[in-house]
Amino acid sequence: MIEYDKNAIVPPYITEYLRDKITHGDALLHEMEEYAVERSVPIVEPETARFLSVVCRAVKPKKILEVGAAIGYSAILMAKAAECEISTLEYDDDMARIARENIEKAGYADKIKVIEADAKDYLSYIDEDEIFDIIFLDGPKAHYIYMLDECVRLLKKGGIIVTDNVLYKGMTADDNHVVRRKITIVKRLRRYVDMLMENKELETAILPLGDGVTVSVKI
Ligand SMILES: C[S@@+](CC[C@H](N)C(=O)[O-])C[C@H]1O[C@@H](n2cnc3c(N)ncnc32)[C@H](O)[C@@H]1O
Repeated sequence: MIEYDKNAIVPPYITEYLRDKITHGDALLHEMEEYAVERSVPIVEPETARFLSVVCRAVKPKKILEVGAAIGYSAILMAKAAECEISTLEYDDDMARIARENIEKAGYADKIKVIEADAKDYLSYIDEDEIFDIIFLDGPKAHYIYMLDECVRLLKKGGIIVTDNVLYKGMTADDNHVVRRKITIVKRLRRYVDMLMENKELETAILPLGDGVTVSVKI
């Protein structure tokens, strides 16, 4: 039985049903899931992980950019789903080291590059020639508002930006759910969602999946 967060946006019985349907049988990913629970490392939720994998298989990207590697779980998951190069940004050196170790174990050292950098500065240094088919934002939620223009610049036409945790335990959608100490992040996530919806170069769907996911296509 999975442990449920009482503030989760999806009712527990639905989450239980969804998770019951998702099995992957990958020993390394299982090991990483257990490590993440034991050490409280936030990695993508199982239903979001499956969604990401399906997006990768459908888009068949050549290049993916990820913001927020943590232990490399979602990067490995995406590498399994697509023949592509992945650059993943991580500013915590311990996390970056563990991510590299896991990527090596998975046999994707030539496919996934962990870049130790603060994403909010680093994005502006990436050359426009280095265009991406998928950008997965799973890093500093309060800074997505400052990253969006760079992400759009670095995204191929028809490319996809997937952003995790946009509903943030429901706080983005409703004042009554807001925890006081999270108010700044919540305000910025609300602004980020508005920016996505108003951006003329993007069409965005907001999915109540996991902790809330947006999928934006560059038109
Ligand atoms: C939610 S975790 C990423 C989980 C990972 N995508 C997965 O599902 O396996 C967010 C990560 O973003 C990193 N991070 C936060 N702010 C960052 C920044 N400004 N630049 C780069 N990495 C950042 C954190 O250190 C953390 O490891």
